[in-house]
Amino acid sequence: MSNSPTKIELTQPDDWHLHIRDGEVMKDVLADTARQFARAIIMPNLKPPVTTVDLAKAYQSRIEANLKLLGVTDFKPLMTLYLTDNTSADEVRKAKDAGIAAFKLYPAGATTNSDAGVSDLKHCYAAIEAMQAVGMPLLVHGEVTSADIDIFDREAVFIDTVLEPLRKQFPDLKIVFEHITTKQAAHYVRDAATAGKNTIAATITPQHLLMNRNAIFAGGIRPHNYCLPVLKREEHRVALLKAATSGNSRFFLGTDSAPHAKGTKEAACGCAGCYSAFNALGLYAEAFESVGKLDKLEGFASFFGPDFYSLPRNSKKITLAKQTQNIPMELPLGDATIVPLRAGETIAWSLV
Ligand code: NCD
Ligand code: ZN
Repeated sequence: MSNSPTKIELTQPDDWHLHIRDGEVMKDVLADTARQFARAIIMPNLKPPVTTVDLAKAYQSRIEANLKLLGVTDFKPLMTLYLTDNTSADEVRKAKDAGIAAFKLYPAGATTNSDAGVSDLKHCYAAIEAMQAVGMPLLVHGEVTSADIDIFDREAVFIDTVLEPLRKQFPDLKIVFEHITTKQAAHYVRDAATAGKNTIAATITPQHLLMNRNAIFAGGIRPHNYCLPVLKREEHRVALLKAATSGNSRFFLGTDSAPHAKGTKEAACGCAGCYSAFNALGLYAEAFESVGKLDKLEGFASFFGPDFYSLPRNSKKITLAKQTQNIPMELPLGDATIVPLRAGETIAWSLV
């Protein structure tokens, strides 16, 4: 494939990190994702969080009901459970038998709806031991939470103080370092020794490939570019783009599309999360094209995720075309509206 095509055909991608919330708003956001992706890892940070197999099954039924309302028959939600200080080894084994795709670690207080998160990983050792034994992936929000650590350093400190000790203690545990934002994380995942066992990977969002932290402060405060982990310096964006486009199978697509109603973002204490689902693939295509690596998009978007999760690759094909898409200022979100990433601007690529 030439590196400046105007059309590319890809095996249909999956989104390995997605928030679709619950209730009234779910249908609106699910439609955007289901238009582009075959499957998505559904994050469990609802209020209250999805902590048990029974809660996940009930959530899955609500998702399926919404897919039915949308007339979508070819999208599969991959359910996850929210790890807490009280998650038992039994629940992990039950989850494995029930086809739950993964557990998610939120350090308590790290991000949106993470109050029930883990206060000390030591409380979870029995559950993590069981995950390692049954081959259940642990997805980590990789930031420390102490108020005395600078917000721009929280991911790098997490690697040294939490992730590396965790991997030493549980060398066969499958870990996805979610939505990485720093060169430290990109290099850590790239260089991690795994004895050939495929035990670590990372997801990367479109916003972290396309923007640096200046985007939060461009001419005034830009709440719709605020997410967690927060955007970092340009050198980090460059390192992430290099990792994503390197063809290394440890890096794959996870949008972290995280819808919040307009009013809760444009507020004195605005919520964290970017809504990228509207044309996520277009955003990724733009990022890959910017470094002449469109030929590496299919591996990142469609192959390396299912390979890591030991799931089959999709067979359907999709086409992206270099066709400018205007992004609306707002989209419906239940009774409210949401401001998508790039609102009022354009994205160079769209799904045909
Ligand atoms: C996510 C959300 O809103 O649920 N927010 C975000 O900024 N990414 C939570 C998360 O993934 O950290
Ligand atoms: Zn997320």
